[in-house]
Amino acid sequence: MKIQIINGPNLNLLGLREKDIYGEISFEDYFKSLTNKFPKLELHYFQSNIEGEIIDKIHEIGFDFSGIVLNAAAYTHTSVGIADAVRSVKATTIEVHISNTISREDYRHISYVAPNAKGIIMGFGLYSYDLAISSFMKKL
Ligand code: DQA
Repeated sequence: MKIQIINGPNLNLLGLREKDIYGEISFEDYFKSLTNKFPKLELHYFQSNIEGEIIDKIHEIGFDFSGIVLNAAAYTHTSVGIADAVRSVKATTIEVHISNTISREDYRHISYVAPNAKGIIMGFGLYSYDLAISSFMKKL
């Protein structure tokens, strides 16, 4: 089963950025542990700070891969384009966030992705991604 993880803007700075919120580990290091933990899955990772590149990636894999684990980061709260892309493809998307966005600023309470996602996992640190991937294994 092919699963695409897509991370949005500033998540390339994990391990350096606001460590109190986002932790001390880079996503590249965490991704290695994920691939070891789920050897039966074909996990792919993509990160971009550019909205259109995220949309292109969803189009590229969205009719081939079974699932997308999407942390659109700040674009979660602003991007109709990413929301439409999620809705347009066959793959099932799970929205994830490292932090609990509902416990933060009001502008983080809105998600344009959420209505088009199967579900949302947030607030568990990087473990949010483990939970999302595990849920795909159960469902499919
Ligand atoms: C985030 C939450 C967003 O509000 C924020 O803009 C991010 C990261 C999270 O994973 O907690 O960049 O998506």
